[in-house]
Amino acid sequence: MSVGRNVIVVGAQWGDEGKGKVVDLLTERSAAVVRFQGGHNAGHTLVIDGHKTVLHLIPSGVLHPGVQCLIGNGVVLSLAALDEELDMLAGAGVPARDQVRISPACPLILPSHIALDQARERARGGQAIGTTGRGIGPAYEDKVARRGVRFVDLVDPARAEAQLRELIDYHNFLLTAQFGVAAVDVEASVSQTLEQAARNLPLMADITATLAALRRDGANVLFEGAQGSLLDVDHGTYPYVTSSNTTAGGAATGSGVGPTWFDHVLGIVKAYTTRVGGGPFPTELHEEPGPHLANRGREVGATTGRARRCGWLDAVALRRAMVNNGVSGLCITKLDVLDELETIEICVGYRTASGKMLDELPAGAAALAPCEPVLERHPGWRQSTLGVRRWEALPEAAQAYLRRIETLLEVPIELVSTGAEREDTIVLRHPFD
Ligand code: GDP
Ligand code: IMO
Ligand code: MG
Repeated sequence: MSVGRNVIVVGAQWGDEGKGKVVDLLTERSAAVVRFQGGHNAGHTLVIDGHKTVLHLIPSGVLHPGVQCLIGNGVVLSLAALDEELDMLAGAGVPARDQVRISPACPLILPSHIALDQARERARGGQAIGTTGRGIGPAYEDKVARRGVRFVDLVDPARAEAQLRELIDYHNFLLTAQFGVAAVDVEASVSQTLEQAARNLPLMADITATLAALRRDGANVLFEGAQGSLLDVDHGTYPYVTSSNTTAGGAATGSGVGPTWFDHVLGIVKAYTTRVGGGPFPTELHEEPGPHLANRGREVGATTGRARRCGWLDAVALRRAMVNNGVSGLCITKLDVLDELETIEICVGYRTASGKMLDELPAGAAALAPCEPVLERHPGWRQSTLGVRRWEALPEAAQAYLRRIETLLEVPIELVSTGAEREDTIVLRHPFD
């Protein structure tokens, strides 16, 4: 019997590291791809022969015919976003309805969650988190408070209707009494949700059992993280985080299989750093080459269209991410974006307001805000690496930059991405080998 591998792919920074591209590429050797946390706040971009597809909720393996795309219990599910994405894929000739299966235990995102997310953000004023406004936080709040409505609840429409009314009434109380904004239309929300349920309940399946069957068959499976390590609700730059565990441990709890099932954790690291939304960012470049990176890297949010903040690679934060995720291999992305720079810097320490030097990120990332980065300078290569697919074809200075990252993070580089296209990738060691 052949033995399959279960590989987790996670972002090691503040999201948008290029997870979607890498998952799509690695799916060539995978029978299934599983999302285990987050929701349609994610924006994962796939580019194949110049054709761009942006996925928010559906796993990034969907463009490979026959690959199972599983949405685990850890994902918060907007049926409206699901319909939209399935329709978009069907329009492009992708039979996604045949490939996607969804856990019965997924908590639903309702229109009132979205209204609450936006009301809470407005109420925070200058302290706003800069959420994607997709209702992610409020849906997770309801899950943990044990009052959420789950996908499986929709199987019994009469009972579901009562549950939905009770929850939306509660949301409307918060919206009107606490935030002084308009209530959502209960009747419309309930009837819309029940309609969406009728269409999508056939996609409900036991994801844990599906994964167990794949394991028995010796199949390879990819677990696709959304967001990034520094947005983790426990380990990120709280409160400027998302509301789920984005780190690799979430793959177990969010899909319903135990930690001993995982063989490898691939950490995706952008060759510099970006962040969208509020919160601390020690290596942020407000002046050049920040705008150059934003422009050359096309750093515009795939979900909200917001400009991403750009800065140097932060090895201090990344070292923490290596531990938080148990990263066993690295994929460095967007190397080509650095091609024109004369000098490239890496943050190797933080100097606190009191002059103390830190080379490790403190637990909870609490000290990020008042810190000055200590930067190490590296010569640029000033030639194109776009589309390079062999390590030997990289300029020496680019090789040296990558080797320095490997040394600082104490994890081997397995893949280097040199362009948005699926095939623009150097594979040094395949995670399924
Ligand atoms: P994700 O959320 O981690 O999947 O990343 P996003 O899709 O939000 O953002 C990554 C962006 O960079 C997308 O526009 C990708 O098409 C693009 N991209 C991915 N890898 C590379 C690369 O190696 N070079 C360049 N130039 N673009 C890349
Ligand atoms: P992918 O999977 C980058 C950020 C938001 C905000 C914070 C909380 O494409 O890497 P939320 O709506 O989740 O409550 O917002 O998290 N954020 C992301 N940033 N990439 C993402 O996903 C993100 N998903 C959420 O900008 O700062
Ligand atoms: Mg993204």
